[in-house]
Amino acid sequence: MAPSSDRDGAPLHVAIIMDGNGRWATERGWPRLAGHREGAKRVKEIVSACPELGVDYLTIYAFSTENWKRSTAEILGLMSLFRRYISREADRMSAEGVRMRFIGDRTPLDPKLQRLMGWIESRTADNTRTNLTVAINYGGRNEITRAARRLAGAVARGEMDPEDITQEAISAALDTGRLPDPDLVVRTSGETRVSNFLLWQAAYAEFEFTPIMWPDFRPADLAEVLDRFALRERRFGAAAQ
Ligand code: IPE
Ligand code: IPE
Ligand code: MG
Repeated sequence: MAPSSDRDGAPLHVAIIMDGNGRWATERGWPRLAGHREGAKRVKEIVSACPELGVDYLTIYAFSTENWKRSTAEILGLMSLFRRYISREADRMSAEGVRMRFIGDRTPLDPKLQRLMGWIESRTADNTRTNLTVAINYGGRNEITRAARRLAGAVARGEMDPEDITQEAISAALDTGRLPDPDLVVRTSGETRVSNFLLWQAAYAEFEFTPIMWPDFRPADLAEVLDRFALRERRFGAAAQ
């Protein structure tokens, strides 16, 4: 099932905008949270399928800096789903060699959730098979702003010269730090926008949009998307073959 493309040995990084949970539930006459709960099951399956699919890095968008606009009930439901996912999946992730990390601004999150996030990051820090990164309270503009502030602080303290602010320095100052840039960004549910996800990192990513709602998205669907990705010619600005 691994994609057949020649990837020059580079790790494949797939980033997913998991969209459509709410509509999936509403279509069935269920509360939106039922869609999020079903969506969490798909996350487990997709994470477990990564090694077989040749995906070394999986980054998933779970909660954006804009998602605070939703009802308190939905926000609290999502936050408790994140807590439950971390506690219940910890053993499986360890068994499957999954290293879990988070990106986004965690400071406004519930302290209990913040503690769990730190706990699972250190517990899985030595795992190397699949690098799972979950974006919670993440926004590309927010991330770039925080990085710019940190770099400006370093310059102001005389620890850095303005000339030291290179593209590499900016990449390293982002939450994604030393993670490779995504090769492919997938968005489910038929929406064709980026919604503030990995704005800097996806500069040369390929994009795939599928009409499938996230709670219906299975590893076989990801395999199909990867097969299409494998047929693409990435040029990075060079002349076409
Ligand atoms: C994606 O599903 C999950 C989150 C944004 C948390 P949505 O909740 O956006 O589902 P739709 O787009 O309303 O169907
Ligand atoms: C993007 O989905 C954020 C996540 C998947 C977490 P949204 O459903 O929030 O995006 P918009 O509002 O349709 O752009
Ligand atoms: Mg949505």
